[in-house]
Amino acid sequence: MKKCSLMKNVWIFVLAGLALFTVQSMVFAADPAVPAAPKLSNDDCAKCHSKPPADIAANGRKHKTEIGCQDCHNGHPPTNRKIIPLCSQCHEGKAHYKLAACMSCHKNPHTPLNITFGNNVTDPCVTCHAGQIVKLRDNKSKHTALNCSFCHNTHGKIPLCTQCHKTHYTEQTTADCKKCHQAHMPKNVAYNDKTPSKDCAACHKKAYDLLTASKFKHSKLACVACHQAKHKMVPQCQSCHGNRHPAAMMAQFPKCGTCHSIAHDLNNLSTAPAAAVAAPPSAKKTKKK
Ligand code: HEC
Ligand code: HEC
Ligand code: HEC
Ligand code: HEC
Ligand code: HEC
Ligand code: HEC
Ligand code: HEC
Ligand code: HEC
Ligand code: HEC
Ligand code: HEC
Ligand code: HEC
Ligand code: HEC
Repeated sequence: MKKCSLMKNVWIFVLAGLALFTVQSMVFAADPAVPAAPKLSNDDCAKCHSKPPADIAANGRKHKTEIGCQDCHNGHPPTNRKIIPLCSQCHEGKAHYKLAACMSCHKNPHTPLNITFGNNVTDPCVTCHAGQIVKLRDNKSKHTALNCSFCHNTHGKIPLCTQCHKTHYTEQTTADCKKCHQAHMPKNVAYNDKTPSKDCAACHKKAYDLLTASKFKHSKLACVACHQAKHKMVPQCQSCHGNRHPAAMMAQFPKCGTCHSIAHDLNNLSTAPAAAVAAPPSAKKTKKK
């Protein structure tokens, strides 16, 4: 209660004072002998305005530490009527400062780093972050057509892939996505040699089933032991086995698969051409790489 009536007194006092200056300046505006209105200090502002000082105190950041109210608000109505500053008075020389409508994102100049924007922003982001758009454009995917803020809808926030996508199979987790995908080039799938075969099996059930059912030694290998590093990479048999058989035999039957079937199976000798099987693949052992 006490505080309240005190505030009321201050108001009456200050407003009366302001009214008096106003009348004086109206009547004696032309008289150079009249003393100028006493200059307001930054501390005076809070006597009549509550929100801007409170905002600045809480979240003014460099608009609190580097400048004061009157660096931006030069003078005061009614003496000065145009006291709302332009951002460009103080911010110039960077691409970012050439954007239109600064306050569409910096909603409140008294809390300059509380930034909000819609889900349709791209060009303004690029004034500060150059690399991502290059990746998005050079590696066309359906992400290329999305705005940056469609995914980053709060500044600095990294979305989870699983906000928008299902995992490939139930046990897979959000953390797994980045083992194969990058957000700004999602179709360039690359992986390391620790990738488990069940990650591939989610989409290649047939290959997985064939390989794991095979009684040959390839069944002990992970998919990525052969399909290394990059999705759709297909290895040559010779890259691991070298020239296992005599050149003459290979000249006659150039394809390994003629006798060994496909790598996932290797169980084709029974259906290989009789001539092929008859030609004994002399045991000239070559070193595996
Ligand atoms: C005696 C009370 C009082 C004090 C002290 C005061 N103001 Fe004001 N202020 C007002 C009133 C009343 C208005 C509305 C005037 C109008 O619209 O013509 C106003 C309006 C403003 C506006 C809006 C101008 C516009 O164009 O919309 C700004 C900015 C402002 N004040 C800043 C300040 C700053 C900065 C200080 C301290 C340096 C300050 N005021 C001190 C009473 C005060
Ligand atoms: C970085 C420059 C800057 C600083 C520093 C600044 N202001 Fe402002 N202020 C503005 C701008 C720009 C607007 C216009 C906001 C708008 O159009 O929404 C404004 C608006 C106002 C208004 C009128 C609208 C409202 O929100 O009530 C008042 C009053 C005001 N400021 C007071 C202050 C006071 C008091 C301080 C110091 C505690 C201060 N300002 C510090 C830039 C500044
Ligand atoms: C009177 C000069 C002045 C005006 C007008 C002004 N600023 Fe600033 N602003 C500064 C200074 C000084 C800094 C601190 C140095 C810097 O970062 O450039 C600053 C810093 C900032 C920052 C970074 C804050 C931080 O803590 O890192 C943002 C964001 C900003 N201003 C936005 C704006 C916007 C938006 C406007 C227009 C609504 C505006 N400013 C108007 C002087 C001003
Ligand atoms: C599309 C939204 C958006 C628009 C429009 C925008 N800004 Fe920013 N601004 C940002 C973001 C995001 C940051 C980064 C804030 C951070 O570092 O946390 C930023 C940072 C800043 C900074 C501090 C970093 C620096 O470069 O000094 C200043 C100053 C600034 N903006 C001024 C402006 C001015 C002036 C305008 C208008 C010409 C403007 N901004 C328009 C989003 C925007
Ligand atoms: C004025 C410059 C500026 C603008 C404009 C800007 N940013 Fe930033 N951004 C920064 C700074 C500075 C950081 C913090 C430092 C860092 O991690 O690079 C940051 C951080 C980020 C981060 C987090 C980076 C990390 O490694 O965690 C993302 C994501 C981001 N910004 C996206 C955006 C998007 C999307 C936009 C457009 C809506 C945008 N930024 C606009 C300057 C800006
Ligand atoms: C499809 C959603 C999506 C879109 C669209 C998107 N990002 Fe990202 N961004 C992410 C994810 C997720 C990450 C985390 C890194 C990762 O997974 O590769 C990220 C990371 C970032 C980072 C942190 C540094 C880095 O490169 O990893 C910045 C900065 C960033 N994005 C800016 C942008 C900008 C600027 C745009 C628009 C040109 C954009 N992003 C478009 C989802 C997206
Ligand atoms: C904010 C939502 C969002 C986030 C977050 C997101 N995406 Fe997407 N993604 C989309 C949309 C929308 C499409 C296009 C879907 C369509 O048209 O069918 C898409 C498409 C894709 C595609 C298919 C690309 C093509 O061109 O066929 C891949 C792969 C993909 N996303 C992977 C990811 C990965 C990995 C992450 C995390 C790093 C991620 N996405 C994060 C929204 C998102
Ligand atoms: C073992 C690697 C691997 C992992 C881990 C992985 N992906 Fe994929 N993802 C792929 C491959 C390969 C494709 C197919 C690319 C093509 O069609 O060329 C793909 C395609 C996609 C697509 C496009 C639509 C579709 O289903 O074909 C989306 C969306 C996607 N992944 C999201 C995710 C998400 C979300 C995660 C994490 C839960 C994830 N991926 C984890 C390899 C992986
Ligand atoms: C999200 C589903 C998905 C995942 C996960 C996935 N692939 Fe694929 N893969 C595809 C699609 C789609 C194709 C193209 C099929 C076509 O062209 O008929 C493909 C094709 C291939 C091809 C054939 C390339 C060619 O030239 O015929 C190989 C090899 C392959 N994938 C290996 C793998 C390996 C190894 C993994 C695990 C690291 C994996 N894939 C994970 C969807 C996937
Ligand atoms: C990434 C390396 C790699 C590639 C590529 C590869 N193999 Fe193998 N292969 C192996 C390894 C490792 C073994 C097991 C050797 C051992 O344990 O002595 C093996 C074993 C074999 C065996 C003996 C199987 C058994 O159970 O005794 C045959 C036959 C064979 N590979 C044929 C092929 C053919 C044909 C291709 C191409 C279609 C091929 N390999 C591609 C690595 C590879
Ligand atoms: C004309 C049929 C034929 C062709 C073509 C052929 N192989 Fe063989 N390969 C055989 C036969 C038969 C054996 C012996 C099988 C056995 O000893 O059980 C054999 C054995 C092997 C073995 C050794 C298995 C072990 O246990 O050591 C490897 C590895 C192998 N072949 C790889 C290849 C590769 C790589 C190619 C293609 C460059 C190829 N073969 C082409 C018929 C063929
Ligand atoms: C020993 C090496 C090796 C291993 C292990 C292996 N592959 Fe293959 N894969 C090949 C070769 C070589 C080809 C080309 C066809 C051929 O000559 O057998 C191939 C072809 C493919 C193809 C395209 C043809 C098709 O069958 O659809 C896919 C998809 C594929 N592999 C997926 C896988 C997956 C998934 C795994 C793990 C479950 C796997 N591979 C394990 C060597 C291997």
